[in-house]
Amino acid sequence: MSPFRQPLLLLSRSGTAKTLLTKLPLAGDIVARFVPGETLEEAVAAARELADAGIHTTIDHLGEDTTDAAQANRIVAEYVALLEALAAEGLASWAEVSVKLTAIGLDLPGGRAVALENARRICRAAHNAGTTVTLDMEDHTTTDDILAALRDLQQDFPETGVAVQAYLHRTETDCRSLARGSSRVRLCKGAYDEPEEVAHAAPVDVDRAFVRCLKTLLDGEGYPMIATHDPRLVEIASALVSRYGRAAGTYEFQMLYGCRPEEQQRLAATGERVRVYLPYGSDWYGYLVRRLAERPRNLSFFLTALVSKK
Ligand code: FDA
Repeated sequence: MSPFRQPLLLLSRSGTAKTLLTKLPLAGDIVARFVPGETLEEAVAAARELADAGIHTTIDHLGEDTTDAAQANRIVAEYVALLEALAAEGLASWAEVSVKLTAIGLDLPGGRAVALENARRICRAAHNAGTTVTLDMEDHTTTDDILAALRDLQQDFPETGVAVQAYLHRTETDCRSLARGSSRVRLCKGAYDEPEEVAHAAPVDVDRAFVRCLKTLLDGEGYPMIATHDPRLVEIASALVSRYGRAAGTYEFQMLYGCRPEEQQRLAATGERVRVYLPYGSDWYGYLVRRLAERPRNLSFFLTALVSKK
């Protein structure tokens, strides 16, 4: 694991660092590399470009520290407008949305009910547009709430998906209960700084847990979404989908916007369904710092960009 990971994840919560870094223009190389724009129009244009290249998207309106109901409502309205735009642009079969429950009210007083009702509004808009919603997974204190919300949402919108994090000890059990029906489950390693009581710390243990979870998902009836840039895991996943007799289109690969674009194209060219997680919005700071924490090479790219701006 990168020695920068923990300090950077701490930095992702620092107000001073945020003020400093957010002064960089969004057009700055590093931000634009991971976040294609601040506006809905820019997000739709990026989704169009990827669709033209045969790549699906899941679009995330950035934001995770929602502190009042009005802010949560604005985010819901943004998602509804985005979904209407995707339908109007004929992109509904190519693009879906990813939603963080903390962005739509989970941390507010009575947050579970608020976030569930807001998520329901987004799921309804997605359903009307002809596409789907996937719930992002956040830090471990939110896992139970997110899975409970998923179960509620799936009663009316069975196509609703969820992300699970291989680094959490609980996730193998969660995968067993999620690998049913048409359940859409995005398996990723996990991006938060978690205590050892709840999460594997060693990268090798996370990778092994990822493979065990993937086997459970591929063996089940659901629709696994394999979210990793790790070349070894992509190779293992490609072998496992054959071993479990999975036809293309009964699972998909997912990567983040700006991460291994050539690999995204290569997989799509071999007939795999590939979906890119496409974040947009002005609240890009926390997302960007998590990406930097994952990959020191991204950090040096960022620091060079920062110095050259002076
Ligand atoms: P990891 O970062 O461990 O890298 C392993 C190897 O992959 C590296 O050594 C390198 O060889 C290669 N590699 C990685 N990144 C590369 C790059 N940019 N360019 C070239 N090579 C690279 N997390 C979460 O907690 N909740 C969530 O809801 C989501 N959602 C989500 C959606 C999607 C579509 C993705 C791809 C990821 C997430 N994540 C997430 C983030 C996830 O948990 C994880 O933090 C990152 O994907 C990084 O882990 P990797 O599996 O990519 O490998």
